[in-house]
Amino acid sequence: MKKKTIFSGMRPTGKLHLGHLVGALHNWAELQKEYKCIFGIVDWHALMGEYENSGSIKEDILDMAIDWLSCGIDPKESIIFVQSDVPEHLELQMFFSCFTPLGWLERNPTYKEQLREIKTRDLHTYGFLGYPVLQAADILLYKAQAVPIGEDQLPHIELTREISRRFNRLYKTDIFADCKAILTKTPRLLGLDGRKMSKSYNNTINLSDPKEVVEKKVSTMFTDPKRLRLNDPGHPDVCNVFSYYSVFASNKKDEVCTWCTKAEKGCTDCKKILSQEILKTLAPIQEKRAVFLKDKNKVLDILEQGAKDARVLAQKTMAEVKEKVFGK
Ligand code: TRP
Ligand code: SF4
Repeated sequence: MKKKTIFSGMRPTGKLHLGHLVGALHNWAELQKEYKCIFGIVDWHALMGEYENSGSIKEDILDMAIDWLSCGIDPKESIIFVQSDVPEHLELQMFFSCFTPLGWLERNPTYKEQLREIKTRDLHTYGFLGYPVLQAADILLYKAQAVPIGEDQLPHIELTREISRRFNRLYKTDIFADCKAILTKTPRLLGLDGRKMSKSYNNTINLSDPKEVVEKKVSTMFTDPKRLRLNDPGHPDVCNVFSYYSVFASNKKDEVCTWCTKAEKGCTDCKKILSQEILKTLAPIQEKRAVFLKDKNKVLDILEQGAKDARVLAQKTMAEVKEKVFGK
């Protein structure tokens, strides 16, 4: 049977962190076994938010590619490419934007939340309102059946389905099928301070952080606020450090629970042990990173080949779209 196609993307807006690793990359690496995967470094989407600071996007693209490759995204299995290298994304977005009602975009909860939350940049732009239209084009250009994403992206997948149905209805065709979201099963990893892990909150552990930095950052993590002294018994269920154990050393959870609730070990020791566990996960990734960093041309070649492969698929879809819409 022919493998189903998956598309997913990430915006190159800075260093990747543990949230990206457990929330996306681990999952993507697994999915490669079962699906034909296409992973896009979506620089146009990055530009929609970072148009005033576009200077670092180029560097962030290369860094993102290196992180992906180091985390097991395999260019022999999957297509890895940069969105702006495949101009068909914009072409399909234009087709979709002709019939996407403003109401669909204005009602989008992710959009409304970002306008509310993000105060450092002016996102009241034409482009940003159309963010999900470009995302729909990303997915439908490759006729992906499934899209691994985080929960915050569910409204965008819903919109993608609405757009593909509307296209099919308007042009009496079935070239686009419904796509479904694949949500990651791993529990969500919060930032060092217990808020969402995000570069803008400065609460991340980055995939490229050296040992000392990881140790220092872990030592600042918020713990059970009621556990002030070593003799106070702690409550692992309200401790962010404990939730990290669930992700990075689930085999140690029982032990941690015991030493915490019986006040046998202090938080400092508990964090030291956690650091070592995180470093065990990061070590093989960082080893590969070092190799790719020394051979950036190889990474650029992978992206170039990825764009070529993606374009073959993209052009095929665009020929069908143009035939349906313009009769050519
Ligand atoms: N909007 C996604 C995010 O911020 C990134 C993205 C762009 C994407 N195009 C996509 C994700 C297509 C999945 C499929 O996380
Ligand atoms: Fe959290 Fe560990 Fe301290 Fe318990 S001992 S409160 S689990 S850091």
